[in-house]
Amino acid sequence: MTKPDLGVTIGSMAMKNPVMIASGIFGYGDEFAGLADYGELGALVLKTITREPRQGNPPAHRTVETPAGMVNAIGLENVGLDAFLRDKLPAALAHGTNVVASIAGDTPEGFAECARSLDGTDVAAIEINISCPNVKKGGMAFGVDAEASAEVTAAVRAATKKPIIPKLTPNVTDIASVAQACERAGADAISLTNTFSAMVIDVEGRRPLLAAGTGGLSGPAIRPAAVYRVHQVAQAVEVPVVGMGGIWNANDALEFIIAGASAVAVGTALYADPAAGNRIVAGIREYLQRHGIRQVSDLVGSIQL
Ligand SMILES: Cc1cc2nc3c(=O)[nH]c(=O)nc-3n(C[C@H](O)[C@H](O)[C@H](O)COP(=O)(O)O)c2cc1C
Repeated sequence: MTKPDLGVTIGSMAMKNPVMIASGIFGYGDEFAGLADYGELGALVLKTITREPRQGNPPAHRTVETPAGMVNAIGLENVGLDAFLRDKLPAALAHGTNVVASIAGDTPEGFAECARSLDGTDVAAIEINISCPNVKKGGMAFGVDAEASAEVTAAVRAATKKPIIPKLTPNVTDIASVAQACERAGADAISLTNTFSAMVIDVEGRRPLLAAGTGGLSGPAIRPAAVYRVHQVAQAVEVPVVGMGGIWNANDALEFIIAGASAVAVGTALYADPAAGNRIVAGIREYLQRHGIRQVSDLVGSIQL
């Protein structure tokens, strides 16, 4: 069989394969420079930025390892929009693949301001982070409410022609209705999931281990729960879905694709293996060849129920 076609499209963003890096793990790309060929991947989603720089939560502790995962409460530490455009974006673009900027704000207009400034740049798409569990204002406060999620999406839609991808929180009763509200407000794709709200307690001190008190659980521990939500959302919307949550290898990525994701993102796994994304691309190609499937898009949502 000729080489299978791994290409997928998310809005107007054409990707050479469906594997992305998830926001926040990779910084702006510079922290992982030289550890793998990130240009081989479909897209790189950079750390969420806000209009003004943020310090994030106190460093002790921002992360805790847990069984098959980790809980983090970074608190959206970031360099701010201006430094991002000046110092970070050019190096990220030099990887030679799609760069997706991730944005957040305290108000819909805060998100829109970031989107407007990104409109004239070479970013391929904009992810809208309405799902961060680790900030007091904004973040998940939007994502837990379908109407507020739609309001942010509409504000960003009005500010940019780039493809926009609201990123959803799993910490809701009905994630499909949030996805549908975002789709109606102009989303080109939906990504999910962000982390699951979580807490770890130091029993000797009887205090939370994280400085912020609570955080978000990621890694293999959340994978089946994330696959289920991706499946629910893929059945509820017409736009493409980007699936993530505990993807460690090609088999995990294929679960999300078969559940309905057009693309997948790899996050926590990069701490264990910075080349996890590259490994997963190779594994998906091998699977398609072995099953005689010509293009990865034929596999999307192919689950037999
Ligand atoms: C340390 C850390 C920082 C993160 N920062 C962000 C962020 O800035 N923006 C965002 O949308 N998601 C952020 N996430 C969530 C991931 O992008 C991803 O949605 C989540 O971790 C589930 O995928 P995974 O299990 O493969 O890591 C972060 C996750 C971790 C572990």
